[in-house]
Amino acid sequence: MTALPDIRTGIGWDTHRIVEGRPLLLAGVRIEWDKGLAGHSDADVLAHAVTDALLGAAALGDIGMHFPDTDPRWKGADSLRLLAQSVSLVSEAGFAILNADTTVILERPKLKDYRVAIRESLAGALGIAVDRVSVKFKTAEGLGPVGHGESAEAQASVLIARMPR
Ligand code: C5P
Ligand code: MG
Repeated sequence: MTALPDIRTGIGWDTHRIVEGRPLLLAGVRIEWDKGLAGHSDADVLAHAVTDALLGAAALGDIGMHFPDTDPRWKGADSLRLLAQSVSLVSEAGFAILNADTTVILERPKLKDYRVAIRESLAGALGIAVDRVSVKFKTAEGLGPVGHGESAEAQASVLIARMPR
């Protein structure tokens, strides 16, 4: 009997409140805007969603389990570093990352001019080629907290496969 290929998918989601006096970081890329996102860490909503998708794919828990927001070590933490640490955990568990697909939902500002920079940054953190990383943007069409400009959301899907030993 042939063994089934060990390919696994993971999903991640995150949200942060929009406030004044904080930067807006998406996968470590600083977006020019007069507002930003609140949070214990650097509030990088996209990095957090991708981290959860990755940990989820390997069934390794979630971001709060590995990097609790009650821990002073992670205050103002660079979320790309947390993502890179999660990549190490998944790699140590014997998996390779095949691709990541993501969506950022934010009413404004327009993000499309940052797509290349964000893809490159995510690809670097994940250790995969840029053409395996997708970044999409949506408004919420004026509906709900995102539509009212109160919050940002991000979603991510990651595929991993166990490497033959
Ligand atoms: O939400 P909506 O479908 O109207 O978005 C249309 C397009 O605008 C998206 O496909 C995306 O390319 C772009 N967009 C953006 N920045 C946002 C939201 C959407 O660049 N904050
Ligand atoms: Mg978060």
